[in-house]
Amino acid sequence: MNQSETYIQTILARQKNQPTSITSINPLTQAHQDDFDKACRFDQFAGYQQLQIISKGGEQFGISSPFFRVHEGIAGATTQIAGREYINYASYNYLALSGDERVSLAAKQAIDQYGTSVSASRLVSGERPLHRQLETAIAELYGVDDAVVMVSGHATNVTTIGYLFGPQDLILHDEFIHNSSLIGAQLSGAKRLAFPHNDFAALETLLTEQRCHYQRVLIIIEGLYSMDGDYPNLPEFIRVKQQHRAFLMVDEAHSFGVMGDTGLGIREHFHIDGSAVDIWMGTLSKSLAGCGGFIAGESALIEHLKCLAPGFLYSVGMPAQVAAPALAALTLLQQEPERVHALQARSAYFLSQAHALGIDTGLSQGIAIIAAISGSSIGAARLSQALFAKGINVQPILYPAVAEKSARLRFFISCEHSLQQIDATLRAYCDAVQTL
Ligand SMILES: Cc1ncc(COP(=O)(O)O)c(C=O)c1O
Repeated sequence: MNQSETYIQTILARQKNQPTSITSINPLTQAHQDDFDKACRFDQFAGYQQLQIISKGGEQFGISSPFFRVHEGIAGATTQIAGREYINYASYNYLALSGDERVSLAAKQAIDQYGTSVSASRLVSGERPLHRQLETAIAELYGVDDAVVMVSGHATNVTTIGYLFGPQDLILHDEFIHNSSLIGAQLSGAKRLAFPHNDFAALETLLTEQRCHYQRVLIIIEGLYSMDGDYPNLPEFIRVKQQHRAFLMVDEAHSFGVMGDTGLGIREHFHIDGSAVDIWMGTLSKSLAGCGGFIAGESALIEHLKCLAPGFLYSVGMPAQVAAPALAALTLLQQEPERVHALQARSAYFLSQAHALGIDTGLSQGIAIIAAISGSSIGAARLSQALFAKGINVQPILYPAVAEKSARLRFFISCEHSLQQIDATLRAYCDAVQTL
């Protein structure tokens, strides 16, 4: 009997409650046993150990964790944390619709009518009228055949990309693409290649070299990148995808409700026909004051996902009280375009004032998300802490989320931020930089 067979016999004997002695395992198998014991401990996971190092580092530098702060009410332009009011730049409540009483009322009425759970996958018995109302409204705004909503924005990308594509396919994505698209691409088993940020010429080169080796090709970009607050040249990406016979997917998590004259996203910004993009993806959790994700596109895509994508088919339908406020928010977006205009004006003001003060805002275009590059993770964490002490809540983005020299604070603007709040924030930021 070789060593592993001895080990297996020992385990089997133990399972049968037969007496056995650990000493019957030879030294090498004992080492295996130690390894296996270690592998059964959660504190031995690399990710957990990394967290411990970061937390100890924070303690050493006197920086308290900025994460998991508890917001005690509605988080919009302001928020309340531990009984204190803060100017808030850490929420994606761009249009201040989360907290709007009409949106909240829609959720309450949906609960009264449908209860708190649809209690099944939509395919079986989870379908409610609000689902199709919301999907039809989204499809109409995109000018495409249909849409499907799913219970999580992250899961929408994972299941859509993971289900539609396979090992014979190629997925090309912007280097700064969101984790949900990366995980979807990994799940699909397709070959995955990143191209430099917003660089459609580099994408074109990759396609020229690679297209012929694969059956289907998917290009994934975002409407507005949340780390940098910049956006792609969508018409150029459409030209490239048409030329090379590829699918184009645009994740509008941060651009829908934010870009375009009436907030209809990057499509409206560039005056592009909805059918020019194959897969429109968006989230309900930001401008639309809800939770979940959507895919919009042609009927064959939507029907297919609804009947076969595992994350939709084998998951519960969206609760009515989540669909209803998103639908109400979509209606208000159209009825009150002044929200979008205010958001765009406040964002542009923030960026221009930041430039005037010499703040490095990286690639930020002044649309809802503005980065302030601090140049080091410790610097970003200290700035965030200093601003918090002055009543301003803004999150740092640290390595490894971005390269160490690109560590930053990220300001998410709300249409309800006042110019005075923005001025006070930038003054506080400059003061804090002096004390670093
Ligand atoms: C670009 C992008 N896609 C997808 C998601 C996932 O959306 P959700 O948080 O609604 O699950 C996010 C989340 O912030 C995102 O930024």
